[in-house]
Amino acid sequence: MKKLLLLSASAGLLLSGCSRDYTPAAGATGEAIFKAACLECHEAIEGKDTIYYEIASEKRSTDFFAKKISSGSLIMPKFPNITGDSLKAVSQYAFEHSIEK
Ligand code: HEC
Repeated sequence: MKKLLLLSASAGLLLSGCSRDYTPAAGATGEAIFKAACLECHEAIEGKDTIYYEIASEKRSTDFFAKKISSGSLIMPKFPNITGDSLKAVSQYAFEHSIEK
């Protein structure tokens, strides 16, 4: 977590309001997209191999992930080219690899 916060601080300076033009290959799996687009910033939670997020139960849904990917934030870049089936696949993958806070 410390690492992500540190990363947040530097990413904020460099990438504030930024957008990534990463485009998934047609038919790419959620896992492949996650590894290509998300893993560099979202590492597994310490002690949990493939769990990347701890999300409050009222927010935790595939929709929440899809919105975050499409809209980004001040710190996180948005991914305008992850759409349709690719957006569904990676949202589902990230959701399945998250736990309730
Ligand atoms: C350049 C680094 C970076 C990349 C790449 C990135 N993120 Fe993020 N993401 C962040 C940061 C920093 C935060 C925390 C600040 C925030 O919520 O905006 C975050 C927050 C999130 C959250 C909210 C977590 C919470 O606890 O509310 C989700 C969900 C998320 N990212 C999903 C993704 C997915 C899925 C991808 C890949 C498509 C991705 N991110 C790619 C940096 C990144």
